[in-house]
Amino acid sequence: MKTLVTKRLILRHLKLTDAPDLFAYAHKPNIGPMAGWSPHRSLQNSYNILKLLIKEDDTWAITLKSEDRLIGTIGLHARDFYQALDNKKELGYALDDIYWGQGIVLEAAQAVINYGFIEIELDEILCGHYIHNHQSKRVIEKLGFTFTHEKETEDYQKYPVTLKMYHMMRLDYLEKRFQYDNTGQKV
Ligand SMILES: CC(C)(COP(=O)(O)OP(=O)(O)OC[C@H]1O[C@@H](n2cnc3c(N)ncnc32)[C@H](O)[C@@H]1OP(=O)(O)O)[C@@H](O)C(=O)NCCC(=O)NCCS
Repeated sequence: MKTLVTKRLILRHLKLTDAPDLFAYAHKPNIGPMAGWSPHRSLQNSYNILKLLIKEDDTWAITLKSEDRLIGTIGLHARDFYQALDNKKELGYALDDIYWGQGIVLEAAQAVINYGFIEIELDEILCGHYIHNHQSKRVIEKLGFTFTHEKETEDYQKYPVTLKMYHMMRLDYLEKRFQYDNTGQKV
């Protein structure tokens, strides 16, 4: 992983000192549950999650260029052994609701996808959203992912929920790449 810089954002490594900023949004009921995780119960809870994420080293802190403060996270995750074997990773993200609707995750994801295909040479990037998560659906559509299938899964409370899955192939990305600069922004 390396720091990625876009027009408005710096995507950098997570730090344990991000815990208060993470807790500030991750405790809200409209963030984690839409992404499959339970709202953080305490600052200590956020600190423990950060420790885990830092160890896994596949999640960036989303920060604004104007202020080095965590406002969300974005990552490329190998969810299981088979994904690692097939050289594919899954894109995941969450943003403090104070910043929703400004295209911030779209901008971050374009840079992360570019990094995934060009710098670490993944063959495929996957992305999914719960069927009721229209905001994430819109991000995935705007990024240009292709719908593949639906699958039944469980939410963080073990209630059944339908997940819509999408993918993007490296070869297709490379074909279209002349349209993008090195931060993944359309030129
Ligand atoms: C999904 C998420 C990351 C989108 O981030 P974002 O930077 O706000 O994305 P965008 O600005 O591109 O907005 C996406 C859509 O949400 C809509 N939106 C923004 N704020 C909204 C709000 N408060 N209520 C309803 N819709 C909203 C926008 O209108 C946009 O749709 P459009 O392109 O048709 O206009 C953010 O909503 C989030 O963190 N949600 C909770 C966690 C989550 O769902 N993670 C993804 C799991 S798959």
